[in-house]
Amino acid sequence: MCGIVGAVRESDTSGFLLEGLRRLEYRGYDSAGVVVINQSGRLERARTVGKVKELERALTQTPLAGTTGLAHTRWATHGGVSETNAHPHICNGTLALVCNGIVENHEALRHSQQEAGLAFTSQTDTEVVVHQVYLHLQNGLDLADAVRATMDELAGSFALAVVHAGEPGRLVAARQGPPLLLGRAEKESFVASDINALLPATRRYQVLENGDVADIRGASCAIKDSGGSPVERVIHTSTQSGAGAELGEHRHFMQKEIHEQPRAVSDTLEDRLLGDRVLEDAFGSEAGRIFDATRQVLIIACGTSYHAGLVARHWLEYVGVPCEVEVASEYRYRRHAAREGTLVVTISQSGETADTLAALEEAKRQGVVGALVVCNVAESSLVRESDLVFMTHCGPEVGVASTKTFVSAMTGLLLLALVLSRRHGFDSGFEAHVVHQIRTLPGALEAALAMEDAIAEMAQVFSDKEHALFLGRGAHFPIAMEGALKLKEISYIHAEAYPAGELKHGPLALVDEKMPVVAVAPNDLLIEKLKSNLEEVRARRGRLYLFADPASGLESREDVTVLHVAPVDSAIAPIIYTVPLQLLSYHVALIKGTDVDKPRNLAKSVTVE
Ligand code: AGP
Repeated sequence: MCGIVGAVRESDTSGFLLEGLRRLEYRGYDSAGVVVINQSGRLERARTVGKVKELERALTQTPLAGTTGLAHTRWATHGGVSETNAHPHICNGTLALVCNGIVENHEALRHSQQEAGLAFTSQTDTEVVVHQVYLHLQNGLDLADAVRATMDELAGSFALAVVHAGEPGRLVAARQGPPLLLGRAEKESFVASDINALLPATRRYQVLENGDVADIRGASCAIKDSGGSPVERVIHTSTQSGAGAELGEHRHFMQKEIHEQPRAVSDTLEDRLLGDRVLEDAFGSEAGRIFDATRQVLIIACGTSYHAGLVARHWLEYVGVPCEVEVASEYRYRRHAAREGTLVVTISQSGETADTLAALEEAKRQGVVGALVVCNVAESSLVRESDLVFMTHCGPEVGVASTKTFVSAMTGLLLLALVLSRRHGFDSGFEAHVVHQIRTLPGALEAALAMEDAIAEMAQVFSDKEHALFLGRGAHFPIAMEGALKLKEISYIHAEAYPAGELKHGPLALVDEKMPVVAVAPNDLLIEKLKSNLEEVRARRGRLYLFADPASGLESREDVTVLHVAPVDSAIAPIIYTVPLQLLSYHVALIKGTDVDKPRNLAKSVTVE
């Protein structure tokens, strides 16, 4: 899941390309590179390992200049993280190419290209693509036709852009899978993996469809579809803010985003509630018709968004709506029996997660009454592919570890459960009670944030640990899973989550005095059961760290540290109990000195499968 940006401009494009890379860095920050066609009609390239700022440093020392160029930020799939594996890849000193995606038949192509006498300088799957385009050029094809011929020979899922030193002012782009947008301006054209990279130059954009090849010459752009026929793609005007997110007084974006949660939730709720009711239109104008036809819900998502789905299953089944929750990368390749009246719900911060997009396509193929997405990015692929949309109004989330979008997505899913509850015999009194609780969310989140100092102190214990267990029950098991994921992601401590009642079936063998066990203990129907499970841990000399309701009766003692969470209604408790776990992982990472916002090996948006 790399980021691509390219441009054909009237003046030097290197500044635009660099800014584009900064805005696409969330897609991968293993290495970055840029190529331009210089005034003498030669390719000039710079590549660096690490984040975009490394490339920026290199370009300050040795600037590149040219009106046509490409740039790329990489998240390594094939070939390690090295300068030679960084894009753009060049063939014969004349042809440069950037690619996002995976070419599955790269080994066979590499073999035949080596036999044809081409030399390789990288271990990437992408290098075969630039060689293949080159071979077609050698056979007399025009650049756009050579790209088309190459696409037809590639297996996999990719988006690419290519320039030829002999044709300044021309850029060819193609899509077969990952999104690729064309930016259109009066005298110039652009290409990028997402709208953010285009905004410094233009708000007008087209979305390439699968199989499209776009031939850009200055401001003109001819698109041909997968059958090779000329097509027009709609020109959209972006309404997205062009401003990048600012860190302000915070040390990290993750910390800022954790503290923004009360605001993110209140913005997400704005205009979605009327008195003590949820407005059905919050999900789109077709919501009434689709919800009337809904007999069950199928939730599909990845990572943190999947955890939000697992919490939502508790809410939906509570109000009588059968619900399944699937990890997108598994669902997309599994055989499943279609169930009549299924509403498919995808959850995604970015709206660009490749597995979730593919799983949605598969669910639609099975037959659904409608597709709803809960998403934070309005101009994203999942929003475009869905009938109903619930936007979380969090503003950009920069930290790789999702925080405010998790809490806001759960809020949206609770509203969905309420809207569906009306069709399952729940009266307005039930809805009014839960809406009243939902309105308390911003204040309750503030109260949870006030625990930060105590949590920072608790975090000291974890900084030299290699493992941790997270426990929860009911709707709080997914919260424990999310807590474990956060700790793994940003502090590189191996953490596992279990439903507390499951410990005795195996994981209890791991528990000794060196194993910290974190548990969330709201005062709900399962509290006594949970307390028994915690005693099982103590009896094995496990060290407990608890976030508990004061009424739970759980208090600190020698082997137990308890931090009390202000009492909240069980309807909203999973949302509130998320906060202390986020703060714990953040403070452990701070002590360990890891790169909190850009943890190793990860990327903010996972646009490859
Ligand atoms: C969250 O902390 C993770 N970085 C990751 O699990 C993320 O939630 C997942 O990749 C799904 O992303 P999405 O919400 O943008 O689809």
